[in-house]
Amino acid sequence: MGKLLISLAILFFSSVALGITPNCNIPEQGSTIQVIHVNSPCSPFRSKTHLSWEDTVLQMQSADKERLIYLSSLVAGRSIVPVASGRQITQNPTYILRAKVGTPPQTLLMAMDTSSDAAWIPCSGCAGCGGTAFDTAKSTSFKNLSCGAAQCKQVPNPSCAGTTCGFNMTYGSSSIAASLVQDTVTLATDPVPGYTFGCVQKATGSSIPAQGLLGLGRGPLSLLSQTQNLYKATFSYCLPSYKSPNFSGSLRLGPNSQPIRIKYTQLLKNPRRSSLYYVNLVGIKVGKGLVKIPPTAFAHDPNTGSGTVIDSGTVFTRLVQPAYIAVRDAFRRRMGNAVVSSLGGFDTCYTVPVTVPTISFMFSGMNMTLAQDNFLIRSAVGTTSCLAMAAAPDNVNSVLNVIASFQQQNHRILIDVPNSKLGVARETCT
Ligand SMILES: *[C@@H]1O[C@H](CO)[C@@H](O)[C@H](O)[C@H]1NC(C)=O
Ligand SMILES: *[C@@H]1O[C@H](CO)[C@@H](O)[C@H](O)[C@H]1NC(C)=O
Ligand SMILES: *[C@@H]1O[C@H](CO)[C@@H](O)[C@H](O)[C@H]1NC(C)=O
Ligand SMILES: *[C@@H]1O[C@H](CO)[C@@H](O)[C@H](O)[C@H]1NC(C)=O
Repeated sequence: MGKLLISLAILFFSSVALGITPNCNIPEQGSTIQVIHVNSPCSPFRSKTHLSWEDTVLQMQSADKERLIYLSSLVAGRSIVPVASGRQITQNPTYILRAKVGTPPQTLLMAMDTSSDAAWIPCSGCAGCGGTAFDTAKSTSFKNLSCGAAQCKQVPNPSCAGTTCGFNMTYGSSSIAASLVQDTVTLATDPVPGYTFGCVQKATGSSIPAQGLLGLGRGPLSLLSQTQNLYKATFSYCLPSYKSPNFSGSLRLGPNSQPIRIKYTQLLKNPRRSSLYYVNLVGIKVGKGLVKIPPTAFAHDPNTGSGTVIDSGTVFTRLVQPAYIAVRDAFRRRMGNAVVSSLGGFDTCYTVPVTVPTISFMFSGMNMTLAQDNFLIRSAVGTTSCLAMAAAPDNVNSVLNVIASFQQQNHRILIDVPNSKLGVARETCT
């Protein structure tokens, strides 16, 4: 799946002649980390395969479906382990960052995921892992966690190899065996000693994880929880545009150096899906008109887990059926007589050049008006453009609206857990 997403972005990228050479190794400053798109020239995960624009859009849509199923599966009690569930591992990473692990530090690339609490890294000697592994023997600060450790009770299928806490997980036709370990993890210039994560030792089957995962969710064993004293459960990120492969964004940890000029909405939590960042979406505007959407489509319900989340792992925003249909119909009406076509999961595409209305998300206390690049996906060749949103898939047993990464590009999103605030400010992520 990762390859498909990669190819899509390459096509997008190849159409943009920015003439910028990427700086793949911007020196770290304070608590700010460079975030690169998986298809950036700086990314070793970039694919060499070329697919047609249409094919890649179709595939990206189906990858998003998997993501939605994963998000809806995050019910209380299942997402608190520091290791990914199968779905997370098979998930396409879209944005990656560099972490330094161990003493002396070894640099590893990890996928950034704001809706996961998991941290796992392929370790040396791992049979079946792709990519660079963490060489545990070379780190003087590396520690196995014992079977008696409190964290060992929170991993799936724990087992004891000698006195070391280990666990196995399966996903699809694949499985991994890992041990639960601790070591110093350095993000930007801040070392976090004794960070607990899963050290993958064996991966079998076809869906092999290529890189580690860094979960930035808000659950009990997440990075936020493990660095509470250092970063005060506050961070922000700016995701670079798909169209700018040579640009990178940033992840800024902690309350320092966060933007001052930023609009806020309330950050909500939902015990049914404790890792996720919920917000209160109250309405959507197309042009100047408020779209008529039944309030139930936006209802935040702690009992069912329904509501709206901001997610970095889904590519295109998904709205529950009645909300999406209303938005789409309002958008089409504004386009007058232009002939509508579909492309895979996108049902509102135009093959002629079109002038489009603006789209705004109305959150409690904050309106977010999207730039065209945040709601229109344009073919690199030809003139096809599609409304880059879709209805949540039918087979997902949850009422969840997901504001996805395409809609967040070139915005700084600030998560302030202690003050229950989520900030949004336009920013060119470079
Ligand atoms: C991005 O950087 C690569 C490598 O330096 C360069 O070959 C390519 O032309 C650049 N692409 C764009 C769109 O600027
Ligand atoms: C950690 O556990 C593994 C597997 O049980 C073992 O091979 C390794 O020597 C242990 N490392 C340390 C530092 O205890
Ligand atoms: C976990 O997987 C390893 C390696 O495949 C295997 O040797 C071990 O028996 C498994 N442990 C459990 C508890 O299933
Ligand atoms: C958001 O937009 C609506 C409708 O245009 C307006 O009534 C409301 O005051 C705006 N909210 C904020 C916080 O600016």
